[in-house]
Amino acid sequence: MRGLVAMAGAVSTLGMGIWLAAQPAGAVPPSAEAGADIAARWCAGCHVVAPSGAGTDAAPSFVSIAQRRTPDQLRAFLAKPHAKPMRGFTLSGREIDDVAAYIATLGPRQPPQ
Ligand code: HEC
Repeated sequence: MRGLVAMAGAVSTLGMGIWLAAQPAGAVPPSAEAGADIAARWCAGCHVVAPSGAGTDAAPSFVSIAQRRTPDQLRAFLAKPHAKPMRGFTLSGREIDDVAAYIATLGPRQPPQ
């Protein structure tokens, strides 16, 4: 019986993989997990990106940003470069969606003003 349950799990995981592979790039839902990777790589130099601790306070923490901004506001903000010393990295639309999804996991947000 356990074998059967494990088997069903494996089959549905496989199905999900096929479903994801079949989607055109733009249709894949944003990944908060990929966003966390991007944040650690590109944003942690200035922002506290983790739910707690590690980082600097030269820029607002992602938790505080999550409380003030909606994902739409984040995407609009991230479409443009910010903070002058940034070494000219540009996020793709996909990366912006992922980072916005990650930040959205960090806190409740207020309705847009
Ligand atoms: C070189 C330092 C630096 C890096 C790297 C950096 N930021 Fe920032 N960021 C700042 C500073 C300083 C501010 C506050 C002033 C401003 O808005 O420009 C800020 C502001 C922001 C805001 C707006 C906060 C608000 O008040 O609404 C967001 C969102 C943000 N950063 C996201 C990111 C993301 C996502 C990354 C990585 C992809 C990133 N930042 C990388 C320095 C940085």
